[in-house]
Parts: sequence; structure tokens; C-alpha cells
Amino acid sequence: MKKRSAQEVSSVSRRDFIQMGSALGLGAALAGMAINSCAKEISTNPGAAKVGPIDTVRLGIVGVGNMGSAHFQNFLRIEGVEIVAVCDLVEDKVKRMQEWATEAGKKAPKGYFRGETDFKRMCGEEDLDLVFTATPWNWHVPIIVEAMRTGSHAATEVPAATSIEECWEMVETAEKFNKHCVMMENVCYMEPEMMIYNMVQQGVFGELLHGEGAYSHDMRNNLLGSAYEGDWWTKEIISRNGNLYPTHGLGPIAQCMNISRGDRLDYLVSMSSNARGLHEFAKAHLGPDHKYSKVDFKCGDVNISLIRTLKGKTIYLVQDTNLPRPYSRINLVQGTKGITQGFRDLTQENLIHIEGSSQAHTWEPLMDYAKQYKHPLISQMEGLAEGAGHGGADFIEDYRLIHCLRNGLPTDMDVYEAADWSVVSELTELSVAGRSQSIDFPDFTRGQWKTRTPLGIIGV
Ligand SMILES: NC(=O)c1ccc[n+]([C@@H]2O[C@H](COP(=O)([O-])OP(=O)(O)OC[C@H]3O[C@@H](n4cnc5c(N)ncnc54)[C@H](O)[C@@H]3O)[C@@H](O)[C@H]2O)c1
Repeated sequence: MKKRSAQEVSSVSRRDFIQMGSALGLGAALAGMAINSCAKEISTNPGAAKVGPIDTVRLGIVGVGNMGSAHFQNFLRIEGVEIVAVCDLVEDKVKRMQEWATEAGKKAPKGYFRGETDFKRMCGEEDLDLVFTATPWNWHVPIIVEAMRTGSHAATEVPAATSIEECWEMVETAEKFNKHCVMMENVCYMEPEMMIYNMVQQGVFGELLHGEGAYSHDMRNNLLGSAYEGDWWTKEIISRNGNLYPTHGLGPIAQCMNISRGDRLDYLVSMSSNARGLHEFAKAHLGPDHKYSKVDFKCGDVNISLIRTLKGKTIYLVQDTNLPRPYSRINLVQGTKGITQGFRDLTQENLIHIEGSSQAHTWEPLMDYAKQYKHPLISQMEGLAEGAGHGGADFIEDYRLIHCLRNGLPTDMDVYEAADWSVVSELTELSVAGRSQSIDFPDFTRGQWKTRTPLGIIGV
């Protein structure tokens, strides 16, 4: 298992490859060529951590609620990982993880459950290669900064940070200590998103001009039930107004547009509707005397934002979590040669229209193109990822992270993507508060976006 990947594509080879492969129909053959021919050209982008291979990844996990426990299960199944420590506010959750480990035939990780800053004791006492956090948003940066400061790489659930200041702290710490700092955006590992990325890289959509993404998910039951420890997500919605959860919608589109790798997010404008959904739902289902029937939810039910990139692409981004509606992430990517549009709900297919290939003015199912353009990573992980969360994507992202660490490879997303995609939350808050005034994105790469190279077609 421990061998250098033969599937990394360097920028130079990728550009050559796009020129060769832009003609429709050559895609499948060229995709095979690209992933097999460029192993020696693996490059680490300016600013990103440069570190050697780690034989066995010694892991500490902080926050083992819904997502943390799912990642924990994945890591139990991945070769080359030793879960050394687990930390949570709730002792029972820590004990449950220790039981899962022993049931899987592994040593029980040491437990840490002495309160909100016990992760510091964990980072201080344990010899860790990687600290992975799936805590509420306000704890991500304190935890990953402590991890990097004490010698570990860091991975965090989404969004990585809640403010501009936290984004800078994360970037500066990763740079100072030469550590990987990865935001685990699982949507980037879903089958349609990976296939679309593959097609974009092969020039199928021509020059990209526009994208649309969303987190549109009726979360009223979760937000007003007991889904989140201490109701942390609900408290965010009570106290902030903007797009607080932008990365599922933005991440895959930003990857397609090579954001922070040849282009960069320039400015945004944002607008929020009134907040009605949670209040109405609480009154109807919890009764008029319930605390959530009386509270003022600050976050508008629907937040819409427009982003323009420095090279002139546009992105429409939505957050819509408090009203009755079927799920959608929109997932639209459009260029000079065609367009693809995601599901309107979980059951409907992704659609595509490519000039010269599709009938004029007509959508086709995206998956009709899978034979040519299915992402090689998805094919390689088939079977292995089955049954894991979010259609297997959670397992694939965990597997790829460990694969990169064990092989001394750059991680798929680095600290600049974590910052660029997460900072949208505070920028939208500022715009909403300022009558949708336009707000500039900070350049977390300090100019290096001009020479940083795209991800390429990854594999394991
Ligand atoms: N990628 C996805 O698809 C996806 C889906 C859901 C949630 N998330 C993200 O995962 C993260 C966790 O969400 P969740 O649904 O698992 O929430 P959760 O409430 O189920 O879990 C959070 C856990 O963190 C623990 N915790 C809180 N503060 C802590 C601290 N200071 N130290 C140690 N433990 C602490 C809590 O006790 C709890 O067990 C969030 O960032 C969320 O945005 C991602």
C-alpha cells in the first residue's frame, strides 16, 4: 500500500494534456494517459507544507459527535492509521469510540474529556502526526492552531474558520510551522462533482465563466431538536446573519475555477431575507412557551451572495436551511462550450448540455458521460467506500488525506483553500450588515495564487 502515487498531474503536464484533450471524445483515452504518465512531476505549491512521508499516521480526534464519530469509523478501516487519542466534552462519547476501537481489534485510544480546552492537554501529552477536529465551528481554529504549534498536521470539518482574523491565524500558523492544514470538504469527493472537475480540467466546458452552489437543506428538525451538542448550530443562527455554511456549495466550484491556483476570489455582495422559518416551526412543534418560540433568529432564512473572481468569473451562492424545501446544492458550472447543473433534489439526476454533442437546447443526464469522464479516484475507491457517509465521499476524503500524508504528497486542499472558502461567512455578514455593500476578499496567498498550480487528476 505504501508507495508513491502514479496519479498526480503536474501543472505543466496538465496544461499540455488540456491542449491535447480539449476535443470531445478524446477524454477517456487521455484521462488514462494523464494519470499514469506524470508521477515524477509531483509538485508542491508555493506556501503549502513540504514534508516527507509518514509511515504510520498517529492520529488524535477532537469532537466525536455526528461527523467526528463517522470519521473515527473510517479511520479504523484505513491502513497506516493509529488512533492514539480521542477528545470530547462528553465522556460517554469518548468511551463509545474506545469501545469501537477495541471491537475493531485495535488498541483503545487514550480519552480526554476534561472540558473545552482539554485538547491542549492531548496535543501536549501525545506524540501525534495529525489532529482531526469535528467540533462546532468556533473551536476549529483554536484546535488546529494548537495542533500545528505542537508539531502535528491539522484537519478540520467545514467551515475551517468563522472570521477573517481566524483565517489569517490559520494560514500564518501553517506557514510558520510548515504543517498541512486541510479543510475536509467532502462534497469535493462526491461522484458528480469529481466527474465535473475531471471534465473541466479536460476542457469539455471550454473557458469557465459562471458557477452556482448552495447549501439548501431543510434543517428545522435538526436545529430545533437535539441533533447538535449544546445546540451549537442553532446558537450560530441566533447570533449571526450571512452565509454561515458556504463551503459545500462553493468548494467544488472553486476547485473547477482554480481559485487560489491561477485565479482568486475578488469581491462579493450578499443579501439575507427575513428570518421566519425557525420561529414558525418552533411555535408549531414545540409550543409558544418554548425558548426557541421566543428567541429572535438573526440569520435570514435565505441568504444569497454573488462573488466575482479576479479573472472575471461569477459565482451565485445560497444558504437556505430554515424553510420547508427539498435538498439541493445546485452545483452548476458553465463555460463557453456547455453547462452542467446539479440535482434539484436528492433523487434527480445531474444534467449536462455540451455544444456539438448534446441536441440543441436540450439537457442530457450527466452520467451518460461517465464512461468517458468518470473520475479515476471514484473508480479506484469503488467497493472500499461503500456504506460510508455521504455516499462514500467521507471515506474517500479520509482515505486520500492519509494517502497523501503516508506518501509525502501535497494534500488535495491546503490552508489557502480552507481560508478562501471559509472566509465567505464573515464577508457575507459584513455585506449583509452594510446593505449588500461589496466586500473584498483578502489574498491569503499573498500573490502566490498567480503561480500556484491546479490540483490535477488525483488517485490512490
Ligand atoms: N461535511 C459534512 O457533510 C458535515 C455534516 C455535518 C456536520 N459537519 C461539520 O462537522 C462539525 C461537527 O458537527 P456535528 O454535526 O458532528 O456536531 P455534533 O454536535 O454532533 O458534534 C460536535 C462534538 O464536538 C464536541 N465538542 C464541542 N466542543 C468541544 C471542545 N472544545 N473540545 C472537544 N469536543 C468538543 C461535542 O461534545 C460534540 O460531541 C461541524 O463543523 C459541522 O459543520 C460537516
